[in-house]
Amino acid sequence: MQSVKYYRRFFVAAFLVISTATLFAAGTNSPREKLLLDFNWKFHLGDDWPNMMRLDKAGQNTGPASERFNDNSWRTLNLPHDWAIELPFDRSADTSHGFKPVGPGFPKNSVGWYRRTFDLPASDAGKRLWLEFDGAFRDTRVFVNGWEMKHNESGYFPFRCDITDVARIGGKNTVAVRVDATKFEGWFYEGAGIYRHVWLEKTAPLAIAPDGIFVYTRFKNNVPSGKAPINVEIRLFNTLTNAAEAAVHCEIISPDGKSVAKFKKTEIVNGGMPKSMQLKTKVSAPQLWSPESPKLYKLITTVESGGKMVDRQETEFGIRTFAFDADKGFLLNGQPYELKGTCNHQDMAGVGAALPDALQYFRIAKLKEFGDNALRTSHNPPTPELLDACDHLGMIVMDENRLLGSDEENMRRWESQISRDRNHACVGIWSVCNEESTQTQPVSARVGLTMQALVKRLDPTRPVTAAESVGDVYTGLPGALEVRGWNYHIGQEIDNYHREHPTQPEVGTEQGSTVSTRGIYENDKKRGYVSAYDVNAPPWAHTAETWWSFFATRPYLSGGFVWTGFDYRGEPTPYAWPCINSHFGILDTCGFPKDNFYYYQSWWTTNIVLHLLPHWNWPGREGQEIRVDALSNCKEVELFLNGQSLGRQTMQPNSKLSWQVKYAPGILSAKGYNDGKVVAETKVETTGDPASVQLTPDRATINADGEDVSVFTVSVTDAQDRVVPVASNKINFELTGAGKILGVGNGDPSCHEPDTFVPQLPVKDMPFNDWRWKLANVPGRGATAPEYAADFDDSAWDKTSSEGDNAQLTEGQTAIFRQHLKLSDEDLNNLGVNIRFGRIDDGGWVFVNGQRVGESRNWEDAPVFDIKKNLHEGDNVIAVGVRNISGGGGLTLGVNLEFVGQPVAVPWSRSVFNGLAQIIVQSTKDAGEIKLTASADGLAPATATIQSQACAPRASVP
Ligand code: GAL
Repeated sequence: MQSVKYYRRFFVAAFLVISTATLFAAGTNSPREKLLLDFNWKFHLGDDWPNMMRLDKAGQNTGPASERFNDNSWRTLNLPHDWAIELPFDRSADTSHGFKPVGPGFPKNSVGWYRRTFDLPASDAGKRLWLEFDGAFRDTRVFVNGWEMKHNESGYFPFRCDITDVARIGGKNTVAVRVDATKFEGWFYEGAGIYRHVWLEKTAPLAIAPDGIFVYTRFKNNVPSGKAPINVEIRLFNTLTNAAEAAVHCEIISPDGKSVAKFKKTEIVNGGMPKSMQLKTKVSAPQLWSPESPKLYKLITTVESGGKMVDRQETEFGIRTFAFDADKGFLLNGQPYELKGTCNHQDMAGVGAALPDALQYFRIAKLKEFGDNALRTSHNPPTPELLDACDHLGMIVMDENRLLGSDEENMRRWESQISRDRNHACVGIWSVCNEESTQTQPVSARVGLTMQALVKRLDPTRPVTAAESVGDVYTGLPGALEVRGWNYHIGQEIDNYHREHPTQPEVGTEQGSTVSTRGIYENDKKRGYVSAYDVNAPPWAHTAETWWSFFATRPYLSGGFVWTGFDYRGEPTPYAWPCINSHFGILDTCGFPKDNFYYYQSWWTTNIVLHLLPHWNWPGREGQEIRVDALSNCKEVELFLNGQSLGRQTMQPNSKLSWQVKYAPGILSAKGYNDGKVVAETKVETTGDPASVQLTPDRATINADGEDVSVFTVSVTDAQDRVVPVASNKINFELTGAGKILGVGNGDPSCHEPDTFVPQLPVKDMPFNDWRWKLANVPGRGATAPEYAADFDDSAWDKTSSEGDNAQLTEGQTAIFRQHLKLSDEDLNNLGVNIRFGRIDDGGWVFVNGQRVGESRNWEDAPVFDIKKNLHEGDNVIAVGVRNISGGGGLTLGVNLEFVGQPVAVPWSRSVFNGLAQIIVQSTKDAGEIKLTASADGLAPATATIQSQACAPRASVP
């Protein structure tokens, strides 16, 4: 029942998101446009133009950064995109990052290029234009029309660039993004690429500044009572040269859609200057936000100048108070409220770090099913859509920074995180860092306090903590920040600390955690599995029952966050290869519950819960004792095997019950009693052999916006439709209609099957080596020369070979090389035709049929250019002007043509793991039916159909 409720909420939430976007798109006469720039990017993996940057001249960057560059043979894809997920597992790759061959030691896979062109209409003249990146992993350089616009290093923070000056209004613009994932920032799977959204934002020259609205409530004593005092801080900018009057009008819309307050202020904004304004109002009978009742208000801000609307923005917010009390623990709206939280990394099965927004909602809804009411964004700022999902579905967030640091760059990042996230109803506390090695040193206290002070300046409503992995220590960060965060170290140390520092509130920033594999009941080092009884925890950690019993019985503790809600890629613990995933999750990487799910559901919800483990398929173990656990919040539980009672036991709070049962196939069942009455029943049956595949979509209707997804559960069942808990059949998938498969998974932490099947681009090589050459003047800056022309007569020139390392030129010489190529119609029918040079030493310019196609600026490069659009059927001429600066030089190490064929789809498949797998299906922008078929050798196949319904997709760049 519970999940049905959450999904209903999800739909409401999804609808709200869409309707908000529609309001933007409809214009309401505001010049502001926020356009999604996710669709139809070109992508190339590999650092084939390492020296494309020109540091000597502005706007002249070469290679893919140049507008002239042709990316026809690159792959076409939509964002968000994570190329690490697409690579095969590799035992020699980093364990903690999940054995994907990207990062240190894998230079070929660690740099990716993205390109996109877009038109700006003449009507954009006079507007301010930004490109906004919600996050890209990792070191990112953004070029627009050949100009470098941004160099952003961290893979987790948002960044934007003002492209107004270099944009071509009324023409075509090219954005090229080089993403370098060579370095790690964490010790967990981090993905690679533009794995969050990109936006093009346009505003009038007098407008609300980026992140320029902050709306918050502050009640007396931080306890809601009476009317809610609302504070609005607005920052405007004016890029006009003259001062202008700005009238800011605010309206507040209640959760039920009524206008509940209107207020305004008018100020003069000086030319070329920002302006901050404060406005205040009160809202009567406020509907308070909480995880159980996530009521959201909306602030509509419009700005008028000279009698015209110049800007309009909608900002969702919540009215509620958060506080941490040294005696009562966490307080929500003035009342003690236990944080029953989970820490989570951002990746998921099938998609890696690149989650469509609908999967954020899917994941938050899954966490809520077991009573999770709080989430820590360990160990980095989240994507904003995760916070949207938490706002709408109701989940309190600990919003964590990546790295402790009060240097200029870290403070700039920290500020960008706070300014972006502070309007979210869900954000309850900021965390400056996780487990820094210097955490107990005075230096960390100083740095942490500087970071805390920035929070106080930008957001007076929320406290600050850090996730600290030390015991009863007060030096350094633990004693410095408002709230003491505890990673592990439960028991005497926490009690001592509280006694000695009784005025400091405390929270379990990272607790637990059991390692367990879904559906596995014995540790198996060889296969990398751990048993799902709540018995295995690493030496620094604790089982679910141990940590929760401790926290649940200490009111001064604010509750805590389990490590982790979902399994994540990387950090396989306790075993490494073949295990490639963590096992800490209460849910596996797909979101399928492990048994511990029911432990938490028992003690974190008010539902009546009764769950038995293990499964009851143990052929060959007849007569042997098997441990059976009941996870329940019933006062008593009675266990039965094939109808025979095995005894009734009394449940202690926050615990579980166990029996040793001699195995016999059949039905293991249980009854749960409260006050002597049966309130719950459950059973686990011995199943037959696999007979069929079943497909169950989580949503039968999705939006035809090219973004929405339905998550299908794939199960293998016996002849009586019971999931076979030990099945491992390989399932093949086929999809037809208005959708596509985004990814597959099965939660198996040791599965090396691909999560995604990328269409392959077939490449046929054609080496050629009939060059003629002549020492000649090579004009600078790629200017043309008569010898580059297609019809130039080179018959009297000397022949030369480009193979090997035989330099044609001596120091200081320049020369032109020419080659004739005969190409057929069929050759030109390819997606692209690349010319790949071994070496142009020291550098030079490449012309095809008299047209310049590229340049090489460093003798060590092996540049490649797609020249298809410059070629024609019959005779073609390649001409290369080479300048040799020092040593020997010329055209060496061979030249190849590569014919890149049309993409060839690869069939999708995935094995079920202990009976289950998952397939994520995404809509296209066409409405219609999506039909998915799943088949496996020897099993009856399944077909499921969902509808992709016409909708108003959010405004995006065409
Ligand atoms: C913690 C750390 C987490 C994760 C976890 C594994 O100390 O904060 O990121 O590594 O250990 O148990």
